[in-house]
Amino acid sequence: MESVLNSRSTAVGAGASKSLSDSPLRLRVAAIKQIAHEVSSFDLQSPDDIDLPTWSPGAYVNLLLPFGLVRSYSLVPSSSSRSYRIAVQMERAGRGGSRWLHENAQVGQELDVSPPLNHFPLSEGLHASVFIAGGIGITPLWSMIHRLERLNRDWTLVYRARNRCRAAYLDQLALYGDRVAVSFSDDASTPRPNLQALVAVAQPSTHFYCCGPQALLNSFEEACAGIPPDQVHCECFGVKPVGLSSPCRLVLARSGLEVEVSAGESLLTAVRKAGIDVPTSCEQGVCGACEIRILNGKADHKDKILTLAERDAQTSMMLCCSGALTPELELEL
Ligand code: FES
Repeated sequence: MESVLNSRSTAVGAGASKSLSDSPLRLRVAAIKQIAHEVSSFDLQSPDDIDLPTWSPGAYVNLLLPFGLVRSYSLVPSSSSRSYRIAVQMERAGRGGSRWLHENAQVGQELDVSPPLNHFPLSEGLHASVFIAGGIGITPLWSMIHRLERLNRDWTLVYRARNRCRAAYLDQLALYGDRVAVSFSDDASTPRPNLQALVAVAQPSTHFYCCGPQALLNSFEEACAGIPPDQVHCECFGVKPVGLSSPCRLVLARSGLEVEVSAGESLLTAVRKAGIDVPTSCEQGVCGACEIRILNGKADHKDKILTLAERDAQTSMMLCCSGALTPELELEL
């Protein structure tokens, strides 16, 4: 899954993505396999055939692709400790990462890959787990299911996809019988899952996980509104840059500029229009490349990197995706 990562219960600190630039792994594409319509898995292996850094369910890696694209993909189980496996859906309307992988990546090619990061960890306690996947959002949940199976824990999965051809891992999931409920938006005979009802009948200690598009995440958060936050975990596909709901003035301390940002415009767009170069990479709030220090004012944080405490501290923000909570925001830029 090409994603932006979010957990209501856990996040790592700002700068997590520094692992990409500080110590990228040079990995070779060892295998490419189509696993559903427009979904392929890619095995990334150390050319030296050594064990790779370990990872835990919910983890992802950042791939540094040509043209400076950085894209995050969830890791899915593979049988080797010497390779990582990702499953990538071709996003025709996306920004090019998945298209590049589908159209250009070849076996034998080498890519820079971050060590695994995890903002969406699995709770491995004795409690039950309910997984809700939308489309290629199945990928991090699939690794969690593998882990819980090994631990002999109670889990169920609700999996919504556009149609059968596009749903990855259907054959493997069929082995779990009625623990897995699959439905397709193109097939009216498989109705949309009732998340409210699902949550209502769960044991109080159940942990809930959701990964998929924003609309599914919204329904999930609504359904889980009464659940303790540390039992609710989610990961979404992407964060759009926030168009401000009301105008804001940016005071750029280093540049000595003041930039008026109009309603509907994003901070990054406004800063760029003013001729200020902001280093960015993912432009989805996951890599940390655009982290800027806040000197005054409050940001409306939309990234998936800062912890709740760091958000509250209002000392830095990811400019690519965040907005402003105050009419004026002074940045070290
Ligand atoms: Fe990656 Fe902003 S967090 S560019």
